[in-house]
Amino acid sequence: MSIPAPAEGVADLGVTGMAVMGSNLARNFASKGYKVAIHNRSAAKTEKVIAEHGDDGEFYPSETMADFVASLSKPRVAIIMVKAGAPTDAVIEELAALMEPGDIIVDCGNSNYHDTRRREADIRARGLHFVGSGVSGGEEGALKGPSIMPGGTVESYKRLGPMFESISAHVDGVPCCTHVGPDGAGHFVKMVHNGIEYADMQLIAEAYDLMRKALGMSAPEIGKVFEEWNKTELDSYLIEITADVLQHSDPQTGKPFVDIILDQAAQKGTGAWTVQNAAEMGIPVTGIAEATFARSLSGSIPQREAARTTLPALTVDTPIDEQREAFIEAIRQALYASKMVAYSQGFDLIRSASDQYGWNVDMGAMARIWRGGCIIRAVFLNRITEAYERNQELPLLLSDSYFAGEIAKTVKSWRWIVSFSALNGIPVPAFSSTLSYYDGVRAEQLPANLIQGQRDYFGAHTYHRVDDSAGVYHTLWSEDRSEEKQN
Ligand code: 6PG
Repeated sequence: MSIPAPAEGVADLGVTGMAVMGSNLARNFASKGYKVAIHNRSAAKTEKVIAEHGDDGEFYPSETMADFVASLSKPRVAIIMVKAGAPTDAVIEELAALMEPGDIIVDCGNSNYHDTRRREADIRARGLHFVGSGVSGGEEGALKGPSIMPGGTVESYKRLGPMFESISAHVDGVPCCTHVGPDGAGHFVKMVHNGIEYADMQLIAEAYDLMRKALGMSAPEIGKVFEEWNKTELDSYLIEITADVLQHSDPQTGKPFVDIILDQAAQKGTGAWTVQNAAEMGIPVTGIAEATFARSLSGSIPQREAARTTLPALTVDTPIDEQREAFIEAIRQALYASKMVAYSQGFDLIRSASDQYGWNVDMGAMARIWRGGCIIRAVFLNRITEAYERNQELPLLLSDSYFAGEIAKTVKSWRWIVSFSALNGIPVPAFSSTLSYYDGVRAEQLPANLIQGQRDYFGAHTYHRVDDSAGVYHTLWSEDRSEEKQN
């Protein structure tokens, strides 16, 4: 054994899993004065952290899980930062076998909240606490201040909360961390954060694509536009990095960096989980869904090949030369409007899950802890917090007076951009689906009456009448078409 066991009960908390996210979290805790036990399945990674950063704070490395657990002060806090899925289950099992009642196991990976609910129930039955916690902000966030979304019991948060809050990002002195709710609440909220992240990124990409295809602008020119947009309501991390990425040149060729990247977007699954869960809960998260499917479409290579060679090519027919500036401003407004819809949909999904599982999630607090540290951090999130402060029971974010007013200002531009794109063959799935949602959700009358009629016709699925909404009716379509009341 190359690493001697540290003294018993010496560390305030421990982190196991010394890949970049885990080691950065451990370093963040150490930088705030915590005594941090560290461990990794292969000791080489633990040794590397000590060799490179051992002087940055008080670290207590262990080679075995038993030494690692023994080095923690009681009640013990062990944070897991390993790959989601089976590797996480394996580490939980190892830790649980070594821990005592009252100790806390924390999973900070991007775990599926269904797994978190299962693990929490299992670990609770063994007298321990299990906390599934979302952590957002990438590698730099983990090191310098992420947004943290812990679930689990109130009791576990009493022990964990102060530590997590101190290492999280802070905005206006307020930590970007709060207790989200019991069992899987933290991971659910993190999943929706990622879904919104997908929508945000897709909307930005559509805005970029329009400037390219409709206006023939170069990547660095578009980068400058995003730089300007970052001084408006759109002020956010994702707009900021977009401006940077677009103005970066490939060192090998000197070409704009984006022009040398294959147009096939990858995904690790949290967007798809958001869409799956939304579909199961019956919550229309159309912006997130289109953003997720747009990534899938970009990676559908044989399909794209087949379509490219047989379907008519894209042509931009509508000249917008003299309206150039107005057009760019209209894209900005369309982006803003669609973003408001995508967030509203995401919050709708959180509310639905919170009701279903009895999590009692504070919606305004979720927006508050996303203001800093995480990938979707944005000034705009303050407005969401304010909306929920005005009305905690707000059924739909878009119906808040501020958002209703903001969206009203953008609607004309939004319609211009979506119709222009349709007429000119530029795909804008997120811009257009969010506009359709907006028109659908505010419609006096939807064609769902016809769908109910069709369902009753072919499957006797019944319907409610406008003059008796509680009654359940069926028409005897294949007989004399008389109507039966079934309740
Ligand atoms: C974050 C990010 C982070 C990660 C995602 C990206 O909040 O820090 O969301 O979780 O970057 O895994 O997901 P995709 O690989 O699916 O784009």
